[in-house]
Amino acid sequence: MEFNGILVVSYIIATILFILALGGLSNQETARRGNWYGIVGMAIALLATVWGIVTQAYAELLVALLIGGTIGLIAARRVQMTQMPELVAILHSLVGLAAVAVGFANFMDPERLSRYAGVALTIHDIETYLGILIGAVTFSGSVIAFGKLSGRIGGKPLILPARHWLNLLLLLGAIWYGYGFVEQSAAGGGMTPLIIMTVIALLFGIHMVMAIGGADMPVVVSMLNSYSGWAASATGFMLGNDLLIVTGALVGSSGAILSYIMCRAMNRKFLAVIAGGFGTSEGTQLAGGEDQGEVVPISPEDTADLLLGAREVMIIPGYGMAVAQAQHIVHELTQALREKKINVRFGIHPVAGRMPGHMNVLLAEAKVPYDIVYEMDEINDDFPDVDVSIVIGANDIVNPSALEDPNGPIGGMPVLECWKGKTTIVLKRSMATGYAGVQNPLFFKENTRMLFGDAKDSLDAVFKAL
Ligand code: TAP
Repeated sequence: MEFNGILVVSYIIATILFILALGGLSNQETARRGNWYGIVGMAIALLATVWGIVTQAYAELLVALLIGGTIGLIAARRVQMTQMPELVAILHSLVGLAAVAVGFANFMDPERLSRYAGVALTIHDIETYLGILIGAVTFSGSVIAFGKLSGRIGGKPLILPARHWLNLLLLLGAIWYGYGFVEQSAAGGGMTPLIIMTVIALLFGIHMVMAIGGADMPVVVSMLNSYSGWAASATGFMLGNDLLIVTGALVGSSGAILSYIMCRAMNRKFLAVIAGGFGTSEGTQLAGGEDQGEVVPISPEDTADLLLGAREVMIIPGYGMAVAQAQHIVHELTQALREKKINVRFGIHPVAGRMPGHMNVLLAEAKVPYDIVYEMDEINDDFPDVDVSIVIGANDIVNPSALEDPNGPIGGMPVLECWKGKTTIVLKRSMATGYAGVQNPLFFKENTRMLFGDAKDSLDAVFKAL
């Protein structure tokens, strides 16, 4: 009884810490603290579970914890910032796999039928079935997402004929076998429909993510994050574990909210993303094509001169800054300009880079002060007063065709309207397109200058010239 009391209290403390963690992570200044709340909460949850619920096989548990912990530590240390979405995807697959494994183990527990009967057994079986179903979809979907994000599988959407009907068929199949499972389970059987449903769910996960194009992949990762939460929550119901229910619900709902925010920032409908078929692979080199006008290159020395003559400078970072790892030289350049009494601000697009908050993380790592980093909505009206905008490895997020061509692939996506300023300098290596694979008329505008080269090398040269 005393054990149980301590377990409940520990779980409540862990739950509160998880909620505080999510709250902390919503703001750059409190994000580090938020992470710590999460770490401490998870440590308490693990300790309380091992101490309060586990009653045997401690040695095996310790070995598993050591193996899992070591792999996690090595993977997290090795991963580059640009590979973060891949890591997140593969971690979600493990949550899905765990839900499937726990579901099967629970179903095969010989004492199951003596513990539950009647309605309680039906409810328990439905929880098991749902946990395995969502877990299997999350597992196979996340593995495919990992393959696509890491370039092991092509980014092009796979569009099968009558694919929506196929999905519907799979869904109906899962419901049908669910009915059979609950019926047979009461009579001591049920393994066959459970296995068939698992295969159906695995196929559904593969098919769902294969149909989604590269440009929508980050939304899919956050959607799978949400699924992994719901799978954990269903497992929590199955095991009668309150902490797992709450934690799963927190992950499930925050993943869903994040997917929604991303869709809104890209002006994409969530259902359209799930339906798939959009998005090409990245960095298409446009061969000639229609004549857009002339591109005016600029040297690092002339860039330095322009900056020195400016009062208001806006820096717009994008995915290329992450690739070039240019955030540190960006910070040095910012400091140098601010010492010369030039007002430098950063304009951050909500989907700049490849994951939410990607740019904020990089700038924070380079110790750029938070108070000069602004979100798109806060500074988009200020561009007419900006003397020089420096676009560092960004493309889609500063593409005027999003506003001018509402029917284009990124039509309707809000963008940073830097062309309204006096001069825009774009740092990139070539004329290749960005993630969405569309040409960018910004590069051909009269007040745009192109500083070609790796963003870090270019900025090093500008800094020297300054
Ligand atoms: P992108 O449109 O992908 O453009 C990045 C540009 O960086 C490329 O055109 C590339 O041109 C350049 N680049 C790459 N490596 C570079 C290097 N080493 N030095 C200099 N330039 C380099 O990036 P963005 O403007 O940040 O837009 C993000 C895109 O991702 C949007 O389409 C967005 O919808 C999509 N997306 C983002 C998210 C999240 S949550 N962030 C989610 C879903 C989708 P070169 O090859 O010519 O150098």
